[in-house]
Amino acid sequence: MNRKVTVVGGAGNVGATVARGIAEKQLADVVIVDIAEKKAAGVALDMFEACPVYGSDARVLGTGDYAESAGSDLVVITSGMPRKPGMSRDDLLNVNYKIMQQVTEQVVKHSPDCILVPVSNPLDAMAQAVLRLSKFPRERVIGMAGVLDSARMRTFIAKELDVSVENVHAFVLGGHGDTMVPLPRYSTVAGIPITDLMDKVTIERIVARTARGGLEITELVGTSAWYAPGASVVEMIEAILLDKKKIMPCSVFLQGEYGVRDLFVGVPVKLGARGVEQIVQITLTPEEQAAFNKSAAAVKELVDVIKV
Ligand code: LAC
Repeated sequence: MNRKVTVVGGAGNVGATVARGIAEKQLADVVIVDIAEKKAAGVALDMFEACPVYGSDARVLGTGDYAESAGSDLVVITSGMPRKPGMSRDDLLNVNYKIMQQVTEQVVKHSPDCILVPVSNPLDAMAQAVLRLSKFPRERVIGMAGVLDSARMRTFIAKELDVSVENVHAFVLGGHGDTMVPLPRYSTVAGIPITDLMDKVTIERIVARTARGGLEITELVGTSAWYAPGASVVEMIEAILLDKKKIMPCSVFLQGEYGVRDLFVGVPVKLGARGVEQIVQITLTPEEQAAFNKSAAAVKELVDVIKV
């Protein structure tokens, strides 16, 4: 195929789910890079052998050598320590920052023109670290969080109202942490705001469950989630590689938008071949803006610790 996507940390749960999704949808050839190089080779071979069944001509390769990733159009970074029960995403800050330093250096060396999609936690701070380390323009560093948080909210809304998930749109802004900002006013079922369809208490319950969605899985499984995070990354990659110009909530480097400067926070953006092609500004109520500011302040605290 004429497109190439590298998934760093691709032998892990999230990375492997991303790699498989790309191969299954025949979006690009996939290179899995992982420090566990033997496992990377095996996982990739297993996926490659599934491709005839998918009817996909994607080639999948696993390696410990970044040279194989050279010239990638897009690189997903899923490396890092996942959460264990009782840990917040923020507990991973210092250890995963060190990993971002090593990974970003190698990625930039081999794929200087790629679009980078950081997925490691704490998401917004790691995305900011990757932007600073890579020195890429902000259009080419896009953190995955809002698509996942919105997918969780969509799931809960569809289940509550017993309607198709296809009818449900949800908007979750802010940082990917306890302070994330689900926006019921902009969350709709067949175009109807959920505020017209559910009482306040039900909406509050859904909002609270969305905000602790990652934790709910971590407590059940014993490590952090991978199916929904992986699927969310694949949706972003599809929008970029197919130049769909799809509007999705992603963590991007704000420079004055939403009243925030020099900080990664989740907002609606248009994704296309050039990466972030537009930051979509929506009007927030004073309460929503206050919640957004609080969430941005939580991200700022983290980036100040690692000084990025
Ligand atoms: C989650 C982790 C991956 O939200 O941040 O599931």
